[in-house]
Amino acid sequence: MYKKFISPFLFLFDPEKIHHFTFYLLKILFKIPFSGFLIKSIYTIKHDSLERELFGLKFPNPVGMAAGFDKNATHISEFENFGFGFIEIGTVTPKPQIGNPKKRLFRLKEDKAVINRMGFNNDGTELIKKRLKKNFNVVIGGNIGKNKITPNSDAKSDYVYCFKELYNQVDYFVVNVSSPNTPGLRELQSKEFLNDLITQHTIGRLIYLLIFVALSFLLIHSLKFNGIAISIASGMICQKLYEIYIYFKTKPTQ
Ligand SMILES: Cc1cc2nc3c(=O)[nH]c(=O)nc-3n(C[C@H](O)[C@H](O)[C@H](O)COP(=O)(O)O)c2cc1C
Repeated sequence: MYKKFISPFLFLFDPEKIHHFTFYLLKILFKIPFSGFLIKSIYTIKHDSLERELFGLKFPNPVGMAAGFDKNATHISEFENFGFGFIEIGTVTPKPQIGNPKKRLFRLKEDKAVINRMGFNNDGTELIKKRLKKNFNVVIGGNIGKNKITPNSDAKSDYVYCFKELYNQVDYFVVNVSSPNTPGLRELQSKEFLNDLITQHTIGRLIYLLIFVALSFLLIHSLKFNGIAISIASGMICQKLYEIYIYFKTKPTQ
């Protein structure tokens, strides 16, 4: 049904518009009484064999929603009914920003893929924090980045701002220094910057932050990567197609 009728229809339109349109439909759908209950009973599968305990977090299953889909945390109440093991919001930047000029999302039909040149379009930390204040029943990751207008020399303060604002709202952080869509961002994939950010920042409270750093896959081939990994990582975690995640469990010093 979806492959034969729905997706050919949706593919007639601009992908970004369709994204917003389906988000809008989702809100309407969930206004219908018992729809949430029904969707949850269809899509949420609970089984001991699916549960994972990693980095001190308990995941009901290993399938999560990647960053970039619900960037602004507007639909977590709806998506938590679809049985995700976790939902990663963002990338969130301190200030709201509109992202790159449109058109910036391209379908590659033959490859069943898309090219994303969004550029961290998001509503900013303040508004997103408000949306995260509800009690959700799903593990939430906060993927954070720097604003485009922030020079790399001040990038650390952007990330630390996001840590401070969101640490009560999310279960883990992902420090995004790998996006190719913010000019110069990948220059932050340096030992100096990451060491400084992860180990030196102060946050005013004695809490543990679970932080992942999303690094470009290209780095694995360079010595630079080893330098970063050896000097600051608490452990390697997982490797996505083009990103390496390294995790840190860090205790802020103040
Ligand atoms: C339209 C779009 C927007 C995305 N935005 C973000 C983002 O803001 N932050 C981020 O870390 N990843 C973002 N991503 C990357 C996804 O989180 C994910 O890593 C990517 O789609 C590859 O996942 P896959 O290998 O499972 O297909 C975006 C992807 C797409 C297609």
